[in-house]
Amino acid sequence: MKGSIMMDLGGNNMTLQKKGMHGAWASRWTFIMAATGSAVGLGNMWKFPYVAGSNGGGAFVIIYLLCILMIGVPVMMAEVMIGRQGRQSPINSMKDLVSEHHINRSWLSIGWLGVVAGLLILSFYAVIAGWALKYIFLLASGDLQSASGESASAVFSSLLSDPQGLIFWQTIFLFLCVIVVMGGVKRGLGLAVEILMPVLFVVILLLLIFCIFNTNMADSIKFLFSFNFSDLSGRSILEAMGQAFFTLSIGMGAIMAYGAYMPQDASIGKTVMTVAFFDSLVAIVSGLIIFSIVFSTAGLEPTAGPGLMFISLPIAFGNMSAGLFVGAIFFILVSIAAWSSAISLLEPSVAWLMEERNMGRVQANISIAVIAWILGIGSVLSFNYWQEYKLLGFTYFDFLDFLTSNIMLPLTGLLIAVFVGYIISPRIIDSQMNSNTRWRSSWITLLKFVAPIAILIVFAVGIIDKFGNLS
Ligand code: PHE
Repeated sequence: MKGSIMMDLGGNNMTLQKKGMHGAWASRWTFIMAATGSAVGLGNMWKFPYVAGSNGGGAFVIIYLLCILMIGVPVMMAEVMIGRQGRQSPINSMKDLVSEHHINRSWLSIGWLGVVAGLLILSFYAVIAGWALKYIFLLASGDLQSASGESASAVFSSLLSDPQGLIFWQTIFLFLCVIVVMGGVKRGLGLAVEILMPVLFVVILLLLIFCIFNTNMADSIKFLFSFNFSDLSGRSILEAMGQAFFTLSIGMGAIMAYGAYMPQDASIGKTVMTVAFFDSLVAIVSGLIIFSIVFSTAGLEPTAGPGLMFISLPIAFGNMSAGLFVGAIFFILVSIAAWSSAISLLEPSVAWLMEERNMGRVQANISIAVIAWILGIGSVLSFNYWQEYKLLGFTYFDFLDFLTSNIMLPLTGLLIAVFVGYIISPRIIDSQMNSNTRWRSSWITLLKFVAPIAILIVFAVGIIDKFGNLS
């Protein structure tokens, strides 16, 4: 594996710049689109609106944006930097850094935790993305015409109570991901995001325009931007941070793997800020679209929880003029967003198998997809046969979601912040980051103090709150 990594001595400053075996993005913009594609997904369209909705709207949004800016962006920059330095899968990029710095091998856990979290997320992500695929057809078929609360809930429950149906859609979704990742970095992932991301932005813009003219945008704006701090609990702050990590795709190898394919001359800071900006924009615009539709239909509540997208919205679509058509387009949008995210969950483990086991891309890809598929069956069953089996009060699906978003991602984020803040040699930072010292020292300060302390506090508060609630 190592033999296939070529080194060339870059420039006069003797920095070792590696070339990876997997190839590279065509340009900085392809990286931006790929990373935005990874970031913008179910987290923005499905999770953000319902989590914000159930945590009191505006106050949650502020905490969330603060987490993105103060913790998410610096950690994402650190993650991209480690990836670009290593030019391999997260595990092997960390392996090189660990041996170069002669430090304890437990630092490798950054790579491992990330790749494992990514695989676990992919397993349940594919199940939910499968629902979105199914809803394109449900809306297009006309079955939800004039849907009432009962009929829309019945459609959703009948979907959830049918494991075979869920597995069918999960399989189709994973298959779509495999096709893209099979093509490799340039002709698979790169090409896919160059097509999907512009489509995603045009569709979301059209939906926004439609909602401004046809639904209750004023109340939606009021809801997302009114501050009700009394609704915030320790748990909601943990959720805001977990959400910030999840939505930026950080702490799980995806962004590190993508960073490994980034052109050497692109500025990491500017690029990451652009990605975080697009990601937050899509989350807020999705929230505005969804709540404006919810508020324009009598009897629907913004606090509906996970069913917000799959029950409340279909009722609204079923009762709006041209609603079924708009609804089908909406679910196409959600599916595209999920697709461009899931491919980034597949890539780190695929890259690792290719390096470590000398597998070809096709074989590595299929192996990982099959593992994700099998792990995903547990999530499928937790909506029906295993509904009653609970661990610490969670179903299998809820447990994986909590474990990854609220524990593994912040933990890996913490390790990345400490690693780049305190351990990595300044020589590497010098060769990877541009030289604006003021920006760089603010970044390092955020990594050294703000991110770790915030992550630790939020962790403690959230866990005490969670288990306090249980007893
Ligand atoms: N960021 C994606 C979303 O918001 C989820 C994701 C997490 C994708 C991690 C890739 C890696 O839906």
